[in-house]
Amino acid sequence: MKGDCGENPGARRDRVEITGMCRDQDPMQNRGNCEDQMPPTVDMNPSFLRLWRARFQGAPLYCANEGSEGVLASEGWRDYTFRATTVGQKRIEKYLLKECGPGSNLFHVGIGNSLLAQDFHPRVSMIVGVSIEHNEVHHGLQSGASNYFPFVMNKYSLQFSQAFSSDYDFVVDNNPSTFCCCFFHLVRMMTAYRRLMRNGGRIVTERIGLGWVVKGGNPRWGFDFEDWGRIAEVLGLTTSNINGEVYTMQHHQPV
Ligand SMILES: C[S@@+](CC[C@H](N)C(=O)[O-])C[C@H]1O[C@@H](n2cnc3c(N)ncnc32)[C@H](O)[C@@H]1O
Repeated sequence: MKGDCGENPGARRDRVEITGMCRDQDPMQNRGNCEDQMPPTVDMNPSFLRLWRARFQGAPLYCANEGSEGVLASEGWRDYTFRATTVGQKRIEKYLLKECGPGSNLFHVGIGNSLLAQDFHPRVSMIVGVSIEHNEVHHGLQSGASNYFPFVMNKYSLQFSQAFSSDYDFVVDNNPSTFCCCFFHLVRMMTAYRRLMRNGGRIVTERIGLGWVVKGGNPRWGFDFEDWGRIAEVLGLTTSNINGEVYTMQHHQPV
């Protein structure tokens, strides 16, 4: 996607609003095309490369798409504004009910119908969410919860990996690999999730969503607990299988 600053549609709109032009249209900053300006990040270390070779070769190593990485063509798979909460998401929310408290900050990736925010906003300090879908974010913003902040953002993007501080107790994503394009972008996203965590924080997923692949998609994007664990190992995190359904990653020793 040349000529659009290589970002998702939501991000592109924001940027144009702020600067009035994309960087590749700005004579002061024009250094060629978008790919030159947005080099991939350096989250891919040798251990991840070895892990791809050993376990994830069924998925592409790098898709070379820094514009719409992991964005599915079919909106039907993405827009959950008015769809029911998935079973996996409900299981995560049941877990969170026991684990979070008034001081907790939640980060929700794939906000769907925003019912998580609706149910949890009176119980926690703050909820930040991201979705690729404008409709979902628009709907979330209508909720009126003063401590809920949904963003249109692609979780596999460079922009996402640099956008948020390390202030979250729970990073929730029940479909971390479902929409993925390549191992490189999966690693970028997981590294970003790791950075989002406060000391003692947890990344939370769930068996069904982790294993779910969209119709016609690459079956290797269906992960199991062993896959989750191998990625955690390279990130320097420890996994827990809470009840055979909810899986977490956390720092070895909560500080
Ligand atoms: C299957 S829906 C699940 C919604 C909700 N988590 C649930 O389980 O009820 C997938 C969610 O992920 C979002 N999504 C898909 N691809 C994404 C991406 N690349 N970055 C951020 N969100 C994405 C969709 O817009 C949608 O909110």
